[in-house]
Amino acid sequence: MKTETATTFSAIAASEERYQLATYKKMPVAAVRGLGAWIYDVEGNRYLDLYGGHAVAATGHCHPRVVAAIQRQAEQLLFYSNLVYSETRARAAERLASLAPSSLNKVFFCNSGTEANENAMRIARLTTGRERVITFSGGFHGRTADSISATFLGKYRELGRPNVPGHLKAEFGDIESVERIADETVAAIMLEPIQSMAGVRTSEPKFFQELRNLADARGIALIFDEVQTGMGRTGEWFFSGSEASGGVLPDIVTLAKALGSGVPVGACIVNDQFASKIKENDLGTTFGGGMLAMAAVTATLEAIEEDRMLENVLAMESYLRKKLADIPQDVRVRGRGLLLGIEFREKASAIHQALLERHVIVGTSSDPHVLRLLPPLCLRAEEVDLFVEKLEQSLGTLS
Ligand SMILES: Cc1ncc(COP(=O)(O)O)c(C=O)c1O
Repeated sequence: MKTETATTFSAIAASEERYQLATYKKMPVAAVRGLGAWIYDVEGNRYLDLYGGHAVAATGHCHPRVVAAIQRQAEQLLFYSNLVYSETRARAAERLASLAPSSLNKVFFCNSGTEANENAMRIARLTTGRERVITFSGGFHGRTADSISATFLGKYRELGRPNVPGHLKAEFGDIESVERIADETVAAIMLEPIQSMAGVRTSEPKFFQELRNLADARGIALIFDEVQTGMGRTGEWFFSGSEASGGVLPDIVTLAKALGSGVPVGACIVNDQFASKIKENDLGTTFGGGMLAMAAVTATLEAIEEDRMLENVLAMESYLRKKLADIPQDVRVRGRGLLLGIEFREKASAIHQALLERHVIVGTSSDPHVLRLLPPLCLRAEEVDLFVEKLEQSLGTLS
C-alpha cells in the first residue's frame, strides 16, 4: 500500500477530496494543532476559533489537564467494555451525576449526540410502554434513523427517509400545539431548550414549565437535548434546572459534544423514576463507557471547574454583548452564555467568509442572517476584542 506524507494545504485537500466522501463544505484550512481558542494550520497561520470545532472544544483546544489524562489512560488501558467494572468509568459517572441537577442520578454512556437521543427515546418508550415522540419545528437531534426522524429542521428529516414512524411535530414555544397531540400514545416530549442550528432560538421559562406540567399530567417523559447547551455552555453546568428553564427538571438529559473535549462520548442522564424501570440488556453499546473517553470526561469536568469557566462564560457573554451594542452596524444578539446567535441585515454566509479571510472562524445556522458563536468556555476578553474588530472590518467590506 502506498502512503504519502502530505505537507502543503493543497496536497492535503486534494488527498481528502480524493479519498473522503464529499459530505461537507470545508473551509480552506488544514488544521494541525490547537491551543485554547486558537487553531493553527499546516502553513503556520493561526485562526481564532469561535466555533469550537462544532461546540466540542469547550475546555479549549488541547487543555493540558485533558491531554495529560488521555495520555495517562492510553498507557494503562485504552478500552474495555461495560462487561467489566472500571474505576475510570466509575469516577466519570459519579462526577457527572453529582454535577447534574439533583433528581438526575444515573448515567448511560454512548458515543455521540444522536446516539444519546436515540437511547433517551428508547428509555422513554420502554418505561412508558408507548411509542410516539413529540419534537419541535426547528429542533435538531442528529442523523441516525430515530433522531433524524425527530428533527423537524430544514431538509434533514427528508434525508432520513423512510422515517421512523410515530414522530409528531409541535411548535417551539407554543404549548397548545403540544397539548393537541400529547395523548396516551405519546412516550416522550424531546426538545433542544435552545434551538442552536435553527439560529439560536430561545423560549420563555413559562414554556418549559408548561411542558413539565403537561408531561406529568399525561404520563409522558420530558427529554432535554443538551448536546449543545450542556457542560457549562450557558454559564451553568446544565440548562435543566436553571432559571432560564423556569427551574424545570426533565426526566432525561442528553449530552455529547463538549463532554469529552473532543474524544467522542455521549451520555443520557436519567432520573431515578425512569432509571428504576430499565433492566439488563434494555440498552447496550460496545464503545460507550470506554476508558479513554471516561478519562477525558473526568478531566473535562475538572478543567471546567478548576479554571472557573462557568464564571468566565457569563463574564464573556456580557462583555461581548456590550461590545456588540457599541458597533455602528445594526446587530441583534440572542442566546445564553457562549451559545450566541448574532442576527445581521447582511447575509451570514458573506460575513462568515469575510471573517474567515481575517482568520476568525464562526458558525452559520439554518437562518441565513444568523451567525453562531460556540467558542471555548475559556475565551478571553482580548479574543472578544479581536473578534469585534474583525467583525467591524468584515461588515465594512460588505456595506
Ligand atoms: C442539539 C443537538 N443534538 C444532537 C446532535 C447530534 O450530535 P452528534 O453529531 O454527536 O451525533 C447535535 C449535533 O450537532 C446537536 O446540535
